[in-house]
Amino acid sequence: MKYSNGSLTPSQTVAELDKYIIGQGEAKRAVAIALRNRWRRQQVADDLRDEIMPNNIILIGPTGVGKTEIARRLAKLSKAPFIKVEASKFTEVGYVGRDVESMIRDLTDIAVNMVSAEKKEEIQEKADELAEERILDILIPPVRKPVVTEIKSEDVVVEDAENETEVEAVVKDETLQNEKTREWMKKKLKNGEMDDKLIEFDANAPQIGVQVMGPMGMDDMGMNIQEIVSSMMPKKKKKRKTTIEKARKLLSQEEAQKLIDMEAVQTEAIRRVQETGMVFIDEIDKVASGSSDSRGPDVSREGVQRDLLPIVEGSTVNTKYGPVKTDHILFIASGAFHIAKPSDLIPELQGRFPIRVELKSLTEEDFVKILTVPENALLKQYSALLKTEGVNVKFADEAISEVARTAAYVNEEVENIGARRLHTILTTLLEDILFNLPDKLDKKKITIDGKLVNTKLDEIVKNRDLSKYIL
Ligand SMILES: Nc1ncnc2c1ncn2[C@@H]1O[C@H](COP(=O)(O)OP(=O)(O)OP(=O)(O)O)[C@@H](O)[C@H]1O
Ligand SMILES: [Mg+2]
Repeated sequence: MKYSNGSLTPSQTVAELDKYIIGQGEAKRAVAIALRNRWRRQQVADDLRDEIMPNNIILIGPTGVGKTEIARRLAKLSKAPFIKVEASKFTEVGYVGRDVESMIRDLTDIAVNMVSAEKKEEIQEKADELAEERILDILIPPVRKPVVTEIKSEDVVVEDAENETEVEAVVKDETLQNEKTREWMKKKLKNGEMDDKLIEFDANAPQIGVQVMGPMGMDDMGMNIQEIVSSMMPKKKKKRKTTIEKARKLLSQEEAQKLIDMEAVQTEAIRRVQETGMVFIDEIDKVASGSSDSRGPDVSREGVQRDLLPIVEGSTVNTKYGPVKTDHILFIASGAFHIAKPSDLIPELQGRFPIRVELKSLTEEDFVKILTVPENALLKQYSALLKTEGVNVKFADEAISEVARTAAYVNEEVENIGARRLHTILTTLLEDILFNLPDKLDKKKITIDGKLVNTKLDEIVKNRDLSKYIL
C-alpha cells in the first residue's frame, strides 16, 4: 500500500475499507475524505488552520449495516487511537454516571497503551539480553574486578614489585577462568538447556494489599489514586524462586520497564490523540430530544448534548497524562434515527457534525458477498474453525445463496437486524457439526449444500414464532 506522506489518500482508504465492508460506498467516501482532510488541515498555514472545522460525521442507518465496522476499520487503517462510546451511557456533569470528558481520558489511556506496546517491541530484544545477563550473574557471578584498594588490603602485604605482579597474575587468571565459564553457561542458557532448572532471584514485589477506594466517579478527577499511592510506596524487593524459563520472562519485563521512558511515551500518546484520535459516538439518536415523549429525561439528554459541544468543538480536557486538546480529534457519531431525527439534536451540535451519510439496508445480494468476500468473511471464519478439527468444509454456491435468501427473508418478516442475521442463521445451520466434531463425526470433508440448508432451516423459517427465538 502506498502512503502519501503518512496519510492514506481517500481512494486508498476506500479500497482498504472495501476489503472488509460490502457496499455503503457513500459512507466510506465520507470517512475517507474526513481522514484526509484532517491531514490536509495540518498542512495549512497556522492562521488559517484554526479556522478550518473538522469534518465530523453522522452515520445514519438501521442496525447491523456496518456503521461501527466502518469506523473501527478506519481507525485500524490509520493506526489512530480509537474509542467507541455509547452516547446513552453518559450523564450530564454533576449527576451520577460517566461524564462526557471521560471519553477523552479513556482515549488517552488507549493511546498510551498503544505507544508503550510499540516501544516495548522496540526494546524487547535489549530487555531479553539484560535479563539473561542477570540470570547469568546469579548462576556464575562475575569475579570482582581487580580493584587496587582490594588487592592492597591487610591480608596481602605488598612488598615489592615482583610480588605485586604475582597477585595481579592470579587475579587475571581467575578472571579469565570465570569469563570462560560464563561463556559456557551463556551458551547453555541460550540453547534453553537450563530452562527447567530452578533459580532464586530478587524480583520487584508486586504491589498488593493497598486498595484505595476513592469517592464515586473517581475517573472524573482525571487521575488515578491507586497509581499515586503505589508510586509513593517503597518498591520492595522480594526473593523469588522459579524456573529459569519463567525468571527470564519476569526479569525481562522488569528490564523493559526500566528501559522505557514513560514520559516520552505519554508525550507521544498525547500528540497522537490530539492529531489523529478518533471518537465514535454510538446511539447519538438516543440523546436527541425527539427520542421519547416523556418530558423528564429530555432535560438531561439535552445536558449531555451540551456537554458534548465543547469537546467536539475543541477544548482542553485534563487527563492523568496531562492536558489534551480536542480540536483535531475526529468525531463520528452514529444512530438509527428511527424516532428522533438529526434535526432533533440541539442546533449547535448539528453544526458540529456537518456531514450526514445514510447507510442502506442490506440486500440478499449483499449478504452473499458479506458471507464470502471480506478478508474476515463469516464462511472463512467457520472454515478456519473446522480446520482445527482436521475437517475441510466446503459451502456450495447454492447453500450460500440459500443462507443469504433466508437472512433477507427473516430480516423482513421478523426484524431487520442487518448482517447480524447471518450469524444467527449460520450457528443454527452448523450447530450439529460444531457439536459433533471431533468425537462423534468422523469426516475429513464436509460439503454444505442447498439441500442441507433447506432441511435445517425451512421448518424454523416457516414457523414465525420459532424463528423469533432461534434465528
Ligand atoms: N456492509 C457490511 N459488510 C460486511 N459486514 C458487515 C456489513 N454490515 C455489517 N456487517 C457485519 O455485521 C456486524 C454488525 O455490524 P456493525 O457493528 O457495523 O453494525 P452497526 O451498523 O454499527 O449496527 P448498530 O446500529 O446496531 O450499532 C459486524 O460483524 C459486521 O462485520
Ligand atoms: Mg454499531
